[in-house]
Amino acid sequence: MTASSQSSQNTSRLKRRESFIELNGRERAIVLLDSGSWRELLGPFDRIESPWLLPQNITPQSDDGCIILKGTIDGQPAVVISMEPTFQGGSIGEVSGAKICAALDLACRDNENGGKTVALLLLETGGVRLTEANLGLAAVAEIISSLLALRRHTPVVCITAGTVGCFGGMSLVAALASYLIMTAEGRLGLNGPEVIEQEAGVEEIDSKDRALISAIVGGEQRYLTGLADVLLHDDVGEIRRSVLTCLRAGLPRTHRTSEIDLFRRRIAMLNPEHQWNPQDLRESWRRVASDESK
Ligand code: COA
Repeated sequence: MTASSQSSQNTSRLKRRESFIELNGRERAIVLLDSGSWRELLGPFDRIESPWLLPQNITPQSDDGCIILKGTIDGQPAVVISMEPTFQGGSIGEVSGAKICAALDLACRDNENGGKTVALLLLETGGVRLTEANLGLAAVAEIISSLLALRRHTPVVCITAGTVGCFGGMSLVAALASYLIMTAEGRLGLNGPEVIEQEAGVEEIDSKDRALISAIVGGEQRYLTGLADVLLHDDVGEIRRSVLTCLRAGLPRTHRTSEIDLFRRRIAMLNPEHQWNPQDLRESWRRVASDESK
C-alpha cells in the first residue's frame, strides 16, 4: 500500500469517528442506550434544583447538572447517570448526589427482586461541589455506599472520557466501579490540579500545564498503571462496544478495590525522596504486578 493511500485511509477512519467528548451530558447518555428505549427520570421539567446556589449568586440548573436516563443497552435494562461537565464543573451537590444515589438504589432493588438492571456512570466532575461543601461530601459517602451495594449484583461501568476529568470524592466512586473506561483525554485524580497548585504552589504543579497533568493523571497513565481497565479513542462507537464487552463479561473475578495487598506493595515501593516521573512509575508498578503473579 502506498503512503498516500495509507494516509487517506487513516484520514477517512479519523473522519468516521464520532466524538463522545463533544456531546453534552444528556447526549452522552442517549447515545449509549438503545435508540428510542429511554426516558429521563427527574429531568429539567421536574425543576428539582439546588437551593444553595442562588444565595451565592450562582444560577441553578433545573437538573442540577445530573442526568438520569432509564432504558436498555442491547436489550438489557440499564440506568445511565451522566454528569454535565459545563455546569459547575460537573460537581456533586446535595440534589445531584441524591439523584445518583436514588438511581443506584433503584437498580439495586431491581436486582434484589430478580431484575437485571445494569448501571453506567458517566463521570466528568470536579468532585464535591465546593459551594455545597458538607452536603456534597455526605453525598459522595452515600453514592459510594449505594455503588457498593449494587456492584454485588451487577457490573457498574464508569466512563471518564472528557477533559474536565474525574476528581475529588468522585474519583473514589470511579475507582470503585466494576470497570473503568477512559480516553486519553480523560483525567482521574483525587486532588484536582487547581487545588494542588492553590495549596502547594505553582512549583509543585502548574495547573495550566495540560501536558504535565495528562502525563500524571491522564487516561493513558491511569490505564498503564492498572487504575483503569480500558483505554479508548474519543469515539461513540468504540465506547458503546466497550460498554457492551464489560457488561457481557459480568462481574470481575476481583474488584480492583479488593486488591489490597497489591496496592499496599505498590505504595510501599514509592520512595518519596526519589523524584518520580510517569514512565518510572509505570515500569515499577508493572514489576510489582508481575512479581505477584510468579
Ligand atoms: N466545585 C464547584 N465548582 C467547580 C468544581 C467543584 N468541585 N470543580 C470545578 N468547578 C468549576 C470551576 O470553578 C470552573 O467554574 P467557572 O467556569 O465558573 O470558573 C468550572 O468548574 C470549570 O473548571 P476549570 O478549573 O476552569 O476547568 P479545568 O478543565 O481547567 O479543570 C478541574 C477542571 C476539575 C480539574 C479543576 O477545576 C479542579 O482541579 N477542580 C477541583 C477538583 C478537586 O480537587 N475537588 C475536590 C473536591 S472533593
